[in-house]
Amino acid sequence: MKAKSVTIQFTINGEKKQLDIPAGITALELIRDRLALKGTKEGCGIGECGACTIVVDGRAVNACLMFAAQLDGREVLTVEGLAQSGDLHPIQEAFAEKHAVQCGFCTPGVLMSTSALLARAPAPQPR
Ligand code: FES
Repeated sequence: MKAKSVTIQFTINGEKKQLDIPAGITALELIRDRLALKGTKEGCGIGECGACTIVVDGRAVNACLMFAAQLDGREVLTVEGLAQSGDLHPIQEAFAEKHAVQCGFCTPGVLMSTSALLARAPAPQPR
C-alpha cells in the first residue's frame, strides 16, 4: 500500500517551498532528510531533550513531535536561518564568546529556544 502524500507550502529560513510529502513524516524528518538542514538534531525523538527545536510562527517547538503537514502555511526558522549574510546572529556570537556549547549536539536547539524567547521578551527576568 502506497503512503498517502500531501502538498504543503511554507517558508523556511526565508525561502518559500511547495513540497509533496508523505503524510506521516515529522517536521524533523522533513527538515533533516528532505531539506538536508542537518543543524536540527534528533536526540530523544519523544519531545524531552529539545535538540530538535525549531521556531514556527515565532514559537519554539519540538520538530520531532510535529507532523511536517502541520507546517503548511507557516513560517519556519531553523538554526541555519539565524545567521544573516554570513554573520553570526548575536545569540550565536554570545554563545561562542561564553563557550556555551557543552558537547554541542543540542546547541542548535538551545539557540532556537533562546531566539524565540528573546523575540518575545527581549529582557527576560527570573520569576
Ligand atoms: S529530539 Fe528530543 S525533543 Fe525532539
